[in-house]
Amino acid sequence: MARFTLPRDLYHGKGSLETLKTLKGKKAIICVGGGSMKRFGFLDRAENYLKEAGMEVKIFEGIESDPSVDTVMRGADEMLKFEPDWIVAIGGGSPIDAAKAMWIKYEYPECTFEDMCKVFGIPELRHKAKFVAVSSTSGTATEVTAFSIITDYNKGIKYPIADFEITPDIAIVDPDLAETMPKKLVAHTGMDALTHAIEAYVSTANCDYTDPLAIHAIEMIQKDLVDSYNGDMAARDRMHNAQCLAGMAFSNALLGIVHSMAHKTGAIFQDYGAHIIHGAANAMYLPKVIAFNAKNETAKKRYGVIADYMHLGGNSDDEKVALLIKFCRDMNDKLNIPHCIKNYGADSYPTEQGFVPENVFLERLPEIAKNAIADACTGSNPRQPSQEEMEKLLKCCYYDTEVDF
Ligand SMILES: NC(=O)c1ccc[n+]([C@@H]2O[C@H](COP(=O)([O-])OP(=O)(O)OC[C@H]3O[C@@H](n4cnc5c(N)ncnc54)[C@H](O)[C@@H]3O)[C@@H](O)[C@H]2O)c1
Ligand SMILES: [Zn+2]
Repeated sequence: MARFTLPRDLYHGKGSLETLKTLKGKKAIICVGGGSMKRFGFLDRAENYLKEAGMEVKIFEGIESDPSVDTVMRGADEMLKFEPDWIVAIGGGSPIDAAKAMWIKYEYPECTFEDMCKVFGIPELRHKAKFVAVSSTSGTATEVTAFSIITDYNKGIKYPIADFEITPDIAIVDPDLAETMPKKLVAHTGMDALTHAIEAYVSTANCDYTDPLAIHAIEMIQKDLVDSYNGDMAARDRMHNAQCLAGMAFSNALLGIVHSMAHKTGAIFQDYGAHIIHGAANAMYLPKVIAFNAKNETAKKRYGVIADYMHLGGNSDDEKVALLIKFCRDMNDKLNIPHCIKNYGADSYPTEQGFVPENVFLERLPEIAKNAIADACTGSNPRQPSQEEMEKLLKCCYYDTEVDF
């Protein structure tokens, strides 16, 4: 038996933020990030709509990018004091993910972070509050997914919390919020969405319910991401839907090792001055993982189907896989994202010598590979890598060398 779960309601289109006016309850807490939502007036609007609905509103601000366990615990404390019956998370993947984890701790104060990380082990929520997610970036689709990614900065590792219990009750996909994204954010979140759709399509948990969502998302992203990056707001609006469709697919079909590797490399080089932004990590690793997974016949055929839907050409599955890899690499060039960790420079732009020195990478490689294999996303990847293969794959992602194993 398989399960397919999405939010009970999804409101989309320009102005759909107004839906907040229709919520029924007494108290709402708004969870929000570092300032962009306030700066562009969306936080005020959300607060006013909730007040119009007759609710007392509290704001929990300042949730950082790649949120930490500490932030989750602080937010949960605020919720325990305020006792909201609605949690309204607004912003990118970071504040929404943090709010999801706060929600668990609010409902079950005795639950530790380790408890939360047990895959599909979250107890029943919604005894205290329901959850609304309003996304302002076009990538993570956390407004519709069963996932939350929290970083343990003591270990330098991102942990996925995965359970349909944390799939929001209401998702609001209002493209007005995405229109204020700076170019770099469009690029990163867009490549995150492309990776979600491709990984979901070849995942071992794919099914007839997830395939059409993944394929349609891929077609839309192919058509709209570069234009959105270059400032076409109609394309930007469509990308907001495309990333959400990709999220519906991967929340139910799960992901693969591009994400395992991104989760385990994102924060591990923090001591060298920067972290590898999630979408940029995916963009760099995706072509390598396609080459690795294509050694599995079923995955190769599925990549071929993707290439066909994208009209990339090719007469055999091998040719189609090569064309799909080329497409992904061309996207990185068009979006100004490097091809490998070695060239990952300041502000995530390509540079001759990036911030991760070779000796540091090689020293940490066995540990990163071990952690990537243990990541929750590895189980549904079409090809299971050994420790040696994962190390070789990560080396290809560092040096931008060809995957021939
Ligand atoms: N839950 C999931 O299913 C899932 C899936 C993929 C990734 N993730 C996680 O999500 C996080 C990344 O989320 P993200 O990529 O959405 O970025 P983010 O939420 O970290 O935001 C990045 C920056 O963009 C700013 N910002 C957000 N929206 C904006 C807008 N509309 N205009 C201007 N600035 C804006 C934020 O203030 C922040 O400074 C990572 O922790 C990643 O691991 C979660
Ligand atoms: Zn992702």
